[in-house]
Amino acid sequence: MRIDVVSIFPEYLAPLELSLIGKARQDGLLDLKVHDLRSFTTDRHRTVDDTPYGGGAGMVMKPEPWAEALAAVGGDAAARPVLIVPSPAGERFTQAMAYELAEAPQLVFACGRYEGIDERVLEWAAGHFDVRPVSLGDYVLNGGEVAVLAMVEAVGRLLPGVVGNPESLVEESHSDGLLEYPVYTKPSSWRGRDIPEVLLSGNHAKIARFRRDEQLRRTADRRPDLIERLAPESLDKADRALLDELGYDVADGGPRRRAEA
Ligand code: ADE
Repeated sequence: MRIDVVSIFPEYLAPLELSLIGKARQDGLLDLKVHDLRSFTTDRHRTVDDTPYGGGAGMVMKPEPWAEALAAVGGDAAARPVLIVPSPAGERFTQAMAYELAEAPQLVFACGRYEGIDERVLEWAAGHFDVRPVSLGDYVLNGGEVAVLAMVEAVGRLLPGVVGNPESLVEESHSDGLLEYPVYTKPSSWRGRDIPEVLLSGNHAKIARFRRDEQLRRTADRRPDLIERLAPESLDKADRALLDELGYDVADGGPRRRAEA
């Protein structure tokens, strides 16, 4: 996969040289380049921002350097590269979106700073890219760079060969709509705390059931919104019994929290 990141702070993306993503780049699995937006300016001051039309606080990123940068890094329009614009005003980034983006031939990340990029850039870019404003969550960062670090890591680890054991992608949080079960390692007794006994039983069916129950309990406790999004056909008899105990009715539309008596 090819990834291009455009930013006025290329140094912010240095962590992409480390760990799994850094190794994937070295191994040629990921062709990732970071570009300085200011190198696409033409004035002496290398200006990238200006005051907003209509007034208001802050500055807006000028269209000209963005158009030059996107034209230079955009690759082949026929391949429909994806232009991701990190923004708190975007659609929410999810594991499902990470899987979808991992299928694209090229991702271009446009890191906005200040109040954002002139909207016309996104309209114009739609002729070449599949343009997607994307938000990490309902909070505001100073710019898109930190969001890009998160998204590149989430997408990059799904590319074939990047994660050594692909099994580890299957049993993790969000892969089946639930949070991951708790994990333990040696010693089996530590500071007076023993690991759950079933994990020593060697009974794989019992261990799988225990882990599934823990996933459901943890998700109901921390992310009840995810429980209500489970498809009823994904729930077996034991799941349904536990959800009932946790205060959910499972109907055709999926689990619904029972009103408190
Ligand atoms: N840029 C600023 N805030 C952001 C957020 N929450 N997600 C993605 N990009 C952002």
